[in-house]
This record gives sequence, C-alpha cells and structure tokens, in this order.
Amino acid sequence: GLHPRHVQRLIQTRLPKRIQQLLSQISSVADEVGCSVYAVGGFVRDLLLHKKNLDVDIVVEGNAIDFARRFADQHACRVRAHEKFVTAVVIFDDGYKLDVASTRTEYYLEPGALPNVEEASIKLDLYRRDFTINTLALALNHDSYGELLDYFGAQRDLHDKAIRVLHNLSFVEDPTRMFRAVRFEQRLGFKLGMHTENLLRSAVEMDFVQRVGPLRLFNELTIILNEENPFPAISRLEELGLLACLCDQWRVDARVKESFRQAQKALHWHELLYTGSPVERWVVYFLCLSQPLSDDAMAAVCGKLSVPQRWQDILVGERCRVMKVFHRLERDQQKLAEYRPSEVSQRLKGIGDEMLLYAMARTHSDAVRLAVSQYLTQWRDVKPLLNGDDLIALGVDRGPRIGEVLALLRDARLDAEVSSRQDEVDFVRSCQMSC
Ligand code: CTP
Repeated sequence: GLHPRHVQRLIQTRLPKRIQQLLSQISSVADEVGCSVYAVGGFVRDLLLHKKNLDVDIVVEGNAIDFARRFADQHACRVRAHEKFVTAVVIFDDGYKLDVASTRTEYYLEPGALPNVEEASIKLDLYRRDFTINTLALALNHDSYGELLDYFGAQRDLHDKAIRVLHNLSFVEDPTRMFRAVRFEQRLGFKLGMHTENLLRSAVEMDFVQRVGPLRLFNELTIILNEENPFPAISRLEELGLLACLCDQWRVDARVKESFRQAQKALHWHELLYTGSPVERWVVYFLCLSQPLSDDAMAAVCGKLSVPQRWQDILVGERCRVMKVFHRLERDQQKLAEYRPSEVSQRLKGIGDEMLLYAMARTHSDAVRLAVSQYLTQWRDVKPLLNGDDLIALGVDRGPRIGEVLALLRDARLDAEVSSRQDEVDFVRSCQMSC
C-alpha cells in the first residue's frame, strides 16, 4: 500500500489548489469536532489512478449534518441536509458541491429497493460499496492525513486493473451495479474479474435487471451514453446480455457501429463550435441505437426506461418527420448547392440540435452534411436589422403582417438580397407596394 507521504505528494501535485485547500479546511473542522473524516469512493480511486476527478465525497464518523453545518459556519457556503439518510451537501458560492455522509451500512430489503440507513463504522460503510476499487478511504484528520484505509484489496485491484465485487450478492442487492461495472471497465480500461463476470452473467440470466425501477435504468444508460465514446461500453453490454435487458431489439452490428462513429465525429465538431447550448449527447446515441426500431418499439423502450416526456416527444414523434425531411434533401442532393439558404433553412427550421446531429451522422451525402453544417453555424441565427417597430414606422399594418414581413426580410438577408439597413427599408417598401 501507499505510504501517507506518497499520498500527500499526490494531493499536492495532482489536485488543483482549490481542492487542496478544501481538503485542509475539512481537516481542520474534523479535528475541531473531534471525529474522523475520510474522503472516499471515486475521488480517491481517481487520485491514485492520476485521473482528474474533482467530486469530493467525504464520510464522517459521526453526524454528517452537524459536520456540514459546522463547516458552513466557517466558510462561505450553504448546507442542504437530508435528515432521513443523515447526509448533507455543502454548497459553495461558486456552485461547487461537497457531499457529506455519515458512516453507515445499508441493507437492501429486496433487490432494487432503496437502502435502509444505520449507523456503523467506516469499515462497514466501505463494505456496502459496489466494487473493491471504490472502497478506499483517505484519512483527512491532521494526525492521520494521507493514510489510506484499504480493507478489501482496492490497491491490488487498481494495480491489476480489475473490477471486482466485494461479495456474491452485490449484483442481486443492486442490479444497477452491472451497468456501473461495464462503465468502469470501459472508462478505466479495466477488466471484470472472472468471478465477478460469472456473478454478473448469472444475475443477467436470472433477469434481475427487471427489478430495477425505470428511472434508475434510464440514469445508468444515459451516464454511459454521455461518455466521450460510449461504443465500447454498449458493445460490452450487448456481449454480457445487458443491452437486451433494456430493449430486445437493440443490436450492435456494423451499421450501428458506423453510426456511433459518425455521431461521435458530429458531436465533436459541434462541441468545437461553441454555438448555443450544449447538446444532450445521450439523445444522439440513443437514436443511433434505435435505428432499426419502429415508432411503436421506440415508444415502448422510452416508456420502459421512463425517458422524460420532452425527449420522448422528440425520439418518438419527431424522428420520423425529420428522417423524411432528410430523405428529400438526399434525393435533391445534386441540386442542393443551388438551393437558396432560405430554402434549406425553411426545411430544417424547428429541428433540435440532437436530431440534426443524428441526421448528419446518418446521411451518406456530403452535400446534405454541408447544408446542415451551414444551417447550424451561419443561417439559423440570421435576423433582419429592422425590428417590428421599424416596420410599423414604415407603414406596415400591425398584426400578423409584421411577422410575415420580418420572415421575408430574414429570407432576403439569408439569400444575400439585402445587406445594409437601407436595403432592408427598400425591401419593405417593395413588399408594401406588391401587396
Ligand atoms: N455506489 C454503490 N452502488 C451503486 C452506486 C454507487 O456501491 N449503485 C457507491 C460506489 O462505491 C461509489 C459511491 O457509491 O464509489 C459513489 O457513487 P458515484 O458518485 O456514482 O460513483 P463514483 O465512483 O464517484 O463514480 P464517478 O467516477 O462516475 O463519479
């Protein structure tokens, strides 16, 4: 195991000053309150793996809420307490959140149910966790600062690059762990231990996934689909029989693989643009996975995973319509270069970024891809220089006519028929005359 001095050096060299300061503030409050406090879980795992992770989770041997309030009294932050679970979130001015838990064991009354809470020691707290690599605790009190508690072979498994459960019932107690196992495996470049993989396969065999609530399944899937490159994890889910538990029509074949590859490219391109709001990556990949599904099958899987309604509307309702728009664009691709920007914009109007990126990933036509990219980067945000008040001043009737003329102006600007303000004024006057 690592010597505390080595861990202290990792903290000093690997973590931003902000987090180092936070850890020493926690250390002071812990000593004041007189209870042991540890950083635990993914934060410690990633510190040892030299991977960036700024989400500090701490456990307090004592009452987490009292600790959090004491901490907040001394530093500029608020506390949100969860009395029932004896946990708290410390929220800093800049929005940074620190999770504080009390040491506890949870036992699960039935597979998939929410855990019960009871006070217990740190060792029991760590024992209830999913995988050995997540069971490290890093002591933060002054006298023990940098000591690692490693009861379950976490450092050995980090070294061996192995994902191992702590006990045989782990996947039965919480079947979402099967998805987490795959996520960690692919994200960290680790491998399921042999025994762990056997346990997972028999939990799949016994259909334990069906006991998990739809929202929890949705969460696990979206975390995976939001990863930088979700394909390896999706492929592994299929191999383990987990993908079919979510939707028996989801398959990972050459076509889906190619869609994922193209979707990743499109998302990467979109990210580099810094335009507008960030997209929901998972939606794009969800569409890739669901390529062969009928609308009914799509509705069924959305229901089974309780996909939020606003996304269901897009995944089920919009998909067909947008695919038709794209088929038409593809059919016309020879002529597309001659299309006026206003014409292309008209066809793509109202389609969300996720669906556009999916369509970009799917199309085989460079001309269509180019048109969509111009729409996203230039045309979509074009607005006339004149506004409604200007039009009224120019004698346009109040009411719907204003909107019509603004739309015509916008199209004229898109198609480079007007450029200066005077051009727009002249354009409005000619509209007035012709109507
Ligand atoms: N945990 C668990 N079973 C679950 C979910 C979480 O045992 N179904 C435990 C894990 O040991 C984990 C801790 O709760 O270390 C915190 O969960 P989470 O924040 O989801 O995990 P991280 O390891 O921090 O993962 P990530 O790197 O994705 O944030």
